[in-house]
Amino acid sequence: MKIIFYEEHADTDAWLGGLRRELPDADLRIWQPGDTAPADYAIVWRAPRELFANRPELKAIFNLGAGVDAILDVERKEPGTLPPNATLVRLEDTGMAQQMVEYSTYAVLRYLRRFDEYEALQREGRWQKLTQHARASFTVGVLGLGVLGGEVARGLLELGVPVRGYSRTAKKIEGVEVYAGPERFDAFLDGVHVLVNLLPHTPDTEGILNARTFAKLARGAYLVNVARGPHLVDDDLLAALDSGQLAAATLDVFHVEPLAKEHPFWKHPRVSVTPHISAETLREESIVQIAAKIKALSRGETIGGIVDFSRGY
Ligand code: NAP
Ligand code: GLV
Repeated sequence: MKIIFYEEHADTDAWLGGLRRELPDADLRIWQPGDTAPADYAIVWRAPRELFANRPELKAIFNLGAGVDAILDVERKEPGTLPPNATLVRLEDTGMAQQMVEYSTYAVLRYLRRFDEYEALQREGRWQKLTQHARASFTVGVLGLGVLGGEVARGLLELGVPVRGYSRTAKKIEGVEVYAGPERFDAFLDGVHVLVNLLPHTPDTEGILNARTFAKLARGAYLVNVARGPHLVDDDLLAALDSGQLAAATLDVFHVEPLAKEHPFWKHPRVSVTPHISAETLREESIVQIAAKIKALSRGETIGGIVDFSRGY
């Protein structure tokens, strides 16, 4: 079996070494521009369209992340580019859920206990006690209850705050109030104090973090965006911070990454920026999962994590 690998910023020797250990019979190679030789499987992150084009023999594409928006964007821009019979497979957790729980818990706790404001007070050399937010009404709303959002919602319950979740289809998560479908969106938002975004980036979800959404939240609410930059309308966030409708935001993802030096988010006193690290792809866990799925596919078995092109995730 022939496998091509592409991840511009990865330690490719380490990836190929691990994949060779798990798949000793495979013929593995790093894809380079101009490589049109046949391959059965592709393991990629943000690959150029040339890698996918004219590969009718490709059986499956393994995305080195949870979000497949970059690959689906290739097909959206030039329909027919992706191999017609290839299954698209996303990473399922591989250690990302724990990282997302940690990041979201940290952000929510920081706002619940007003540590962000104490950081600002320290910068001004001011000794001042602030009234704590009431935990019982500090409702956190998690947008997206999939592999990552579901775990984040469960994890946030540990803080003793009310947790709500929003998804496309109904689901049961003990202790979490679930709202499903667009007709329940406004009810989900109503009174939320911290909005944590873990939706996939699709045509339906692009721009969902906008002025209308912010206006439905509790006055002085907080935003945590750990999903994708295009979910957020940047100017609407800045306006909501100016008006006081939002108190602060923690942002891990941006329209353009790296975030441009001159972007106002960098210096905004109530915006916290991290460089797309809320849940990183862990090499070892990912290699083991992908290799197991390639073996299962070769035996004709079904696997999890297959992307539904019509849903976009
Ligand atoms: P997932 O398992 O595909 O879950 C997506 C969730 O969103 C599902 O609950 C789904 O509802 C819901 N959803 C999708 N479209 C919706 C819509 N139009 N309205 C309401 N709900 C909708 O995805 P995941 O693994 O949890 O990952 C979520 C996203 O996190 C990824 O797509 C990626 O963009 C981002 N991410 C970011 C980082 C980072 O480091 N910043 C790392 C990993 C992932 P149903 O359950 O009803 O289908
Ligand atoms: C990272 O952003 C991912 O989608 O896994």
